[in-house]
Amino acid sequence: MHHFVTEPAPTTVDHNIITINIIDREGNESRYEAPTDMNMNLMEVCKAHELPVKGTCGGMALCSSCHIYIQSDHELPEMSADEEAQLDQAFFVKSNSRLGCQIHITNDMDGMTVALAPESE
Ligand code: FES
Repeated sequence: MHHFVTEPAPTTVDHNIITINIIDREGNESRYEAPTDMNMNLMEVCKAHELPVKGTCGGMALCSSCHIYIQSDHELPEMSADEEAQLDQAFFVKSNSRLGCQIHITNDMDGMTVALAPESE
């Protein structure tokens, strides 16, 4: 668990930034920055860094194009019924599968490693 002091540093930019390691479909791992205070989810972070994640449904847990595998042992919030139902219909599902669009970026995810699942279309 990380504990962050919430007092803003006056001379720096206000954003809280964490780093997330993302392994692309070719197996290349890179570190990416993700803000924790801009209400972003992991699908949007991938898209912002121009990773090949379509996000076809716009983050509604309805398409699985943001399917990822959680490779580190970070504890994430439980899946919603919607996420579970969509993953039930997805391909290449493993025990560490999640939908990136349902993962809201928080400070607890600093240093997390995720891999993009193969595309199913
Ligand atoms: S973007 Fe469609 S399920 Fe995540």
